[in-house]
Amino acid sequence: MMQALESTHDSDWVLTHEGYSVLTENAVESRFALGNGFMGMRASRPVSRGPTWVSWQGFVRWASWPRCYVAGLFDRPNTVPPVPALVPVADWSRVRLVLDDNSQLMMDGEFLSSVRQLDMRRGILLSDLSYRAHAGITINGDELRLVSLADRAVGLQVLRFSLDRNGIDVMLEANFAMAGMGMEPLQLDRDVCAWRTEGSHKAVAMAGSATLRADGHPLAPERSFSLRWIWRWRSVAGQVLELDRLVTVARSDGLADDPAPVASDALARSRALGWRGVLAAHETAWQQHWDASDVIIEGADDEIQEAVRFAVYHLTSAANPEDESVSIGARGLTGDAYFGHVFWDTEIYLLPFYVAVWPEAARALLMYRYHTLPGARAKAAAMGYRGALYAWESADTGEETTPERVVGPGGETIDILTGRMEQHISADVAYAVWQYWRATGDEGFFADAGAEILLETARFWASRAVPEADGKRHIRHVIGPDEYHEDVDDNAFTNVMARWNIARGLEAIEVMRARWPDRAAALLERLALSEPELADWRDAVEHIVTGLDPTTGLYEQFAGFYKLEPLDLSLYADRKVPIDVVIGRERTQRSQVVKQADVVALIALLPDEFPGAAAKANFRYYEPRCAHGSSLSAGIHALVAARLGETEIALRYLRHAAAADLELDLNSAGGIRIAGLGGVWQAIVLGFAGLDLTGDILGLDPKLPPQWRSLSFRARWKDRSVAIRIAGRTVEARLVNGQPMEMRIAGATRKLTAGATLQVSI
Ligand code: BGC
Repeated sequence: MMQALESTHDSDWVLTHEGYSVLTENAVESRFALGNGFMGMRASRPVSRGPTWVSWQGFVRWASWPRCYVAGLFDRPNTVPPVPALVPVADWSRVRLVLDDNSQLMMDGEFLSSVRQLDMRRGILLSDLSYRAHAGITINGDELRLVSLADRAVGLQVLRFSLDRNGIDVMLEANFAMAGMGMEPLQLDRDVCAWRTEGSHKAVAMAGSATLRADGHPLAPERSFSLRWIWRWRSVAGQVLELDRLVTVARSDGLADDPAPVASDALARSRALGWRGVLAAHETAWQQHWDASDVIIEGADDEIQEAVRFAVYHLTSAANPEDESVSIGARGLTGDAYFGHVFWDTEIYLLPFYVAVWPEAARALLMYRYHTLPGARAKAAAMGYRGALYAWESADTGEETTPERVVGPGGETIDILTGRMEQHISADVAYAVWQYWRATGDEGFFADAGAEILLETARFWASRAVPEADGKRHIRHVIGPDEYHEDVDDNAFTNVMARWNIARGLEAIEVMRARWPDRAAALLERLALSEPELADWRDAVEHIVTGLDPTTGLYEQFAGFYKLEPLDLSLYADRKVPIDVVIGRERTQRSQVVKQADVVALIALLPDEFPGAAAKANFRYYEPRCAHGSSLSAGIHALVAARLGETEIALRYLRHAAAADLELDLNSAGGIRIAGLGGVWQAIVLGFAGLDLTGDILGLDPKLPPQWRSLSFRARWKDRSVAIRIAGRTVEARLVNGQPMEMRIAGATRKLTAGATLQVSI
């Protein structure tokens, strides 16, 4: 590999993939994807025919899926049923190389070597290739690619290569492949183009510049078409050709705003810096993020250290504190699965990371929920409820975007009920708001947006939990996190979270009245929240059914769960596919088999609802019944087991969660499963380290596996940053910046002051 493009060669930081296989390529493209929360790009190879199918027979599967996405660029493609989906923008990394009229597609020659690396420390994708083409001509080349974390509009590609022959007629074309797909052109100039989506009337502009140098001397391109450069020359053996391509992207959400000047300005900015300047600024931005977010474990298996870095890499790549109009889809910006839709994954699985290490990103994600409140109000009203019921799947406007039907493996249509019934999302959003507020004390956010979300979701639940003849209030016809059981009554997760949500709504009013009485009165008036309605909320808090048996401390997952057929999951331990595929949907529904953490997720979120031995009792009961049919499951099991001191079980689940996207399984073909990555981080930091950001003071209650010599990370807490290192029975805490504060370490409250490292034995 040529210098300057060289990676750090540090296996803790660099993921390496050798070779190319149509069977795993799709997963490699997801796993090594680049992102900065605005732009996301799959790690497809720059020289290829583009999208590739594995087979024309049977069902079609993508082998290679070159895609670049822009957050928030949604439109309704021509799908049935019609749901909004992310519209891809041009694949700006593609080049075409023609040697003596032979187009090189990297298909029928011989790879002498082919390595792709994701350097997570620097946020760059590196590729290195040696390829024997027709007539024995050897091409040696490498590529560096990034989407800038320092300037989110910017992408960079540096491609170098040489041939081992003289006198070959070479043609190199740098283009913007698949530009404007599914969009209408607005402007097609030489260096900047703009398109608009057909239905949603958003616009996107891309600007680019490309330079080719032969042994350092620029060659003049032909510019036959917008955003296309063609160079022709005769080869000299060993001569190094270097292509530098800068690309900039801008999105606008209304046609009145022209994104083209924004993209052009960004291009001028980057050209002034030059590619080395763009690279340096990007590396500095990543370094700053790693300083704040790295998690270092000494003594753990390499896979766990690698997995938590991989998680932090993708979590950092997915968020954008500068854009309140977008959130993070279930696959980030790394693939098309779930069309870019946003689920509870963001609030429950990702947000703890952002709250603890990057609160500015957490705030923007919560503001997305604030801006989509109108959609949530409309959904509640359409279903006959008050307040705000958030979309189970949300895109740009906040309206419900869950497809109502999908085609199953046997060609049959399956109704998807989650859009109507998986309502716990509203409490999950409220939970995230409260968590952010507790950890940051961000008064501006709370007064301007957070309180309103808490009140409107509380209001929804009070209207949803209907008083019945038994004197209790029930929430019927829902789906809990365990989606194997549909249309159930009184799902414990939903009901306990709903009760908690209503209680926080009432508390939010207290907070507002105490701090900003005028604003409190104005908000209640604007929402037309009267005393009788608040009295009804108090009644709901008191009377919502929870399924708790006070004698055993066990929650019944939903009414009737205990009566279902017990299923010994250990008999299916060797299965390679989800349990519902093995035993069929109907039997799954009739059985006590849980898709993913449900009551166990409740233990993680609301530990106070499980006093004494109750947490352990519920974990013991539900853990063997869980089939982990979702990537969301293992991390939360690890977190709960770690807090309970069940270290071996916790480590087993952590390894399971860690393996999910690092192994090249088919499920990551449609993008990395970012919620699972959030779960990995949570299991380590909230589980093993026992970090607690929800109390009046910052808490830490470590229970490290004995083989871990130390665990170090940083956490943000109310305008401060604290560096924490747990080693054996010693905890060290250092205030990196901010005012002196208190910290509770394994139950004892201690003072943290600037400049001194606090050392506590536990
Ligand atoms: C899970 C949901 C999750 C969704 C998107 C589903 O399989 O059951 O909990 O929100 O995937 O990740």
